[in-house]
Amino acid sequence: MKLGVCYYPEQWPEAWWADDARRMREIGLSVVRIGEFAWSRIEPEPGRFVWGWYDRALATLADAGLKLVLGTPTATPPKWLVDARPDILAWDASGTPRRFGSRRHYDFSSATYKREAARIAEAVVARYGRHPAVIGWQTDNEYGCHDTVESYSPAAAAAFRRWLAERYGSVGEFNRAWGAVFWSQEYRSFDEVDPPNLTVTEANPAHRLDYRRFASDEVVAFNRLQAEIIRAGSPGRDVVHNFMGFFTAFDHHAVGRDLDVAGWDSYPLGFLDQGWDAPDVKLRYLRQGHPDFAGFHHDLYRGCAAPDGTPGRMWVMEQQPGPVNWAPHNPAPLPGMVRLWTWEAFAHGAELVSYFRWRQAPFAQEQMHAGLLRPDSVDDAAADEVRALAGELAVAEGATPERAKVALLFSYQAQWLLGIQPQGSGFDPLRLHFECYSALRALGLDVDVLPPDAPLDGYRLVVAPSLPIADNALATRLAASGATVLLGPRSGSKTIDFQIPPTLPPDGLRALVPLTVARVESLPSGFAERCADAPGAAVAWLEHVETDLPARASTAHGRGLWFARERFHYLACWPDEAFLGHVVRTLAVEAGLDPRGLPPGLRLRARGPLRFAFNYAPEPVDLALYLPPDAKLLIGGPDLPPGGVAAWREA
Ligand code: GAL
Repeated sequence: MKLGVCYYPEQWPEAWWADDARRMREIGLSVVRIGEFAWSRIEPEPGRFVWGWYDRALATLADAGLKLVLGTPTATPPKWLVDARPDILAWDASGTPRRFGSRRHYDFSSATYKREAARIAEAVVARYGRHPAVIGWQTDNEYGCHDTVESYSPAAAAAFRRWLAERYGSVGEFNRAWGAVFWSQEYRSFDEVDPPNLTVTEANPAHRLDYRRFASDEVVAFNRLQAEIIRAGSPGRDVVHNFMGFFTAFDHHAVGRDLDVAGWDSYPLGFLDQGWDAPDVKLRYLRQGHPDFAGFHHDLYRGCAAPDGTPGRMWVMEQQPGPVNWAPHNPAPLPGMVRLWTWEAFAHGAELVSYFRWRQAPFAQEQMHAGLLRPDSVDDAAADEVRALAGELAVAEGATPERAKVALLFSYQAQWLLGIQPQGSGFDPLRLHFECYSALRALGLDVDVLPPDAPLDGYRLVVAPSLPIADNALATRLAASGATVLLGPRSGSKTIDFQIPPTLPPDGLRALVPLTVARVESLPSGFAERCADAPGAAVAWLEHVETDLPARASTAHGRGLWFARERFHYLACWPDEAFLGHVVRTLAVEAGLDPRGLPPGLRLRARGPLRFAFNYAPEPVDLALYLPPDAKLLIGGPDLPPGGVAAWREA
């Protein structure tokens, strides 16, 4: 478990570097991420490389005993390159090329840019790949940030046509798959197909889904290109990328297969403010973030870096240290929260937590974004918290993360499909997954978030909030796992071609729960179908089911909401918090787990034999109720203040 920081020596006078490095060590940091935006200083003119400053910066940091994670600078192609080769630019959905002046302006499909990205990555890797202080490489920076996965450029259109030809082989098959006879959308050749932007009304959903699949594949290929360069020139170092919060525009499981470590950037306050939570929730957690925001992503990204989909390695590459600059409102974290977020990341299996950034920049876009130091170089609030935390880390020495007993299945393709045709403005698939995760976590259960093809043996409870594309193989694996299984609404509701399956939903899963979804309806917010025989209600989404199975919960009108055959369960609605809590608690008990009712805002997490408690609530929590009788607290006391952390060893 290491602490780190994101540092930009190119933004500060060289005379400051040595003192910065010394202070990093003094605070307790041991890793520095560097260089991911430095292209214009590395290669100020085509082919003229200036390494001196970079050599000296690395030497200064390494001499202070710091280890280095270097970024390939491909998120920020410099002006001279844009001017010389405008074909590297991505085009937005209005058909306009992106302009220079911020970042991420490149096109994943531009052959020119792929060449240029490989060239600069090769240059940096050739120079520093075997540097003794370099322990890892971050590819690019936050693929997709600022809505940049999909481009509508001529290069993207050409690549999409090739992608379609490869996927479908024949135009006849392609027209069938898209249902192109509808509205005379038939094509005579792949060359006639355009990207799905600028259509008068919604483009064919199969067209949009294929464009998302294609764009995601382009990200995977771009990342692989860099990963291969790094592996060839920097043997033994970790390859990592920094994913984002609540971001699903490319398949992170697929990108993760080319990484050693899944990194992600954790900004709990910014995401609460711009997210879907109700105003009272936003106010309650204003300075803490949602109690499950960070945990959800730690667990999701742990499921992204192992080739077989089991929980793998995870780093928090950027951790919010204070107010950020980019949300509608940017409050300061409660005292203690930076420490809490850091400990929580370690509890969920992180190997590194790296703060963004070292010193707040007094210039340019992010001048209002806090760092560990203020712009005048005085320690900002987080520096003290990190210093104190660094002294505590030894407590968890030797505690290695283990697999949880609950798995939540998460498919990026499902996010795209359900997002493209939500059939109701309230149906946000990511939110449904997050709410299921949150309901499990509120019961004190640890959860692994896994791709749907991950091995499931050993799990006691498997929750699949919504897998619209399901097949018999999935049903077989779920049956073989021995776990209690909960399938959410819209499971098995589409074919791989984005069509309604011939035998209606839940296609592929009917062997587990013999029922047919004959009709669906979406419901406006404020409307609820109350459960007659269970707490809570169905909201946002309701399915009309035909089956001989008895319902385990129904509406007052007798419409079944929850069906089960043996240990296989189907939810025919979007459950509100009370109903979802009831269902998952019941299933946790039936699965032989030990669910607890935690007070709102308290979360528990085990790392090996250690169990941690985190208080996100704005009021103190009495931990005594949740501690084993003879527990000796290693961190914190039984009276957990807001933002407090406690840890103890479990038998
Ligand atoms: C991240 C990004 C950083 C910085 C940060 C500000 O999205 O990777 O470069 O912009 O946000 O919060």
